[in-house]
Amino acid sequence: MLLLLRVLMLSLLSGGSVKVVQNFESGCGQLFANGKSPTRFPGPQYRQICQTLNNDVYYATFYDTDNKIPVYSAYKFEGLKDCTRLDKWYIEPQVSQWRVLEKKIAEELSDQCLPKKYSVYIVTGVVPGTGNINNRVKVPSHFWTVYCCLDNNNRCQISSGFIGENKKDTPKNKTVKDLETDLATLYNVDSFELFDNSTKLPPKKQKFFKFLDVRL
Ligand SMILES: *[C@@H]1O[C@H](CO)[C@@H](O)[C@H](O)[C@H]1NC(C)=O
Ligand SMILES: *[C@@H]1O[C@H](CO)[C@@H](O)[C@H](O)[C@H]1NC(C)=O
Repeated sequence: MLLLLRVLMLSLLSGGSVKVVQNFESGCGQLFANGKSPTRFPGPQYRQICQTLNNDVYYATFYDTDNKIPVYSAYKFEGLKDCTRLDKWYIEPQVSQWRVLEKKIAEELSDQCLPKKYSVYIVTGVVPGTGNINNRVKVPSHFWTVYCCLDNNNRCQISSGFIGENKKDTPKNKTVKDLETDLATLYNVDSFELFDNSTKLPPKKQKFFKFLDVRL
């Protein structure tokens, strides 16, 4: 789940397809909680990608063509599966830390969310650092991952975030809100939103009507 290069490599290796779309909320919105993607940065270097394998949409990836790394990938967790691994991205001993965590999260979700028929959305991303691999690909400074289990009313009932530097430290367990704050700082943006919670939807509608009022 955390091995991001896998996201793009998988299709190259397996004959799936990578589709660059104008808006991945309409292209593969089913991979996002309430159809809403995490924050997308403006800028011509970013691409929104829907990746399919055997006609199922697997990942929605926000990709940075300058740094040649995904910013994040989103997908739905449907149970424990064996996945192909591409470990290239990890600077060694740290790989095992994320592996352990990855397994722990998968077990937690299988225990706590899937039996309740919650829909489980995961987003996992990186923050570009300063080093390059082969003068091409940026080495991430941080990895992060976050999940949200949506109930029938489209509310995040169970959620947790994790972030760690690309070194030996154990990834830290955070609330979604705290992770959003960290990511805003690391990506140097005003705010970074990971999940839409249906409780946040009404204010958006109000804003729209306010806008209409002003125009009228
Ligand atoms: C989403 O809303 C529920 C219910 O109001 C709240 O308990 C939960 O913490 C929220 N989750 C996130 C990720 O904001
Ligand atoms: C992260 O923290 C939450 C809240 O304290 C806890 O329920 C969860 O088990 C922790 N997850 C992991 C993988 O450590």
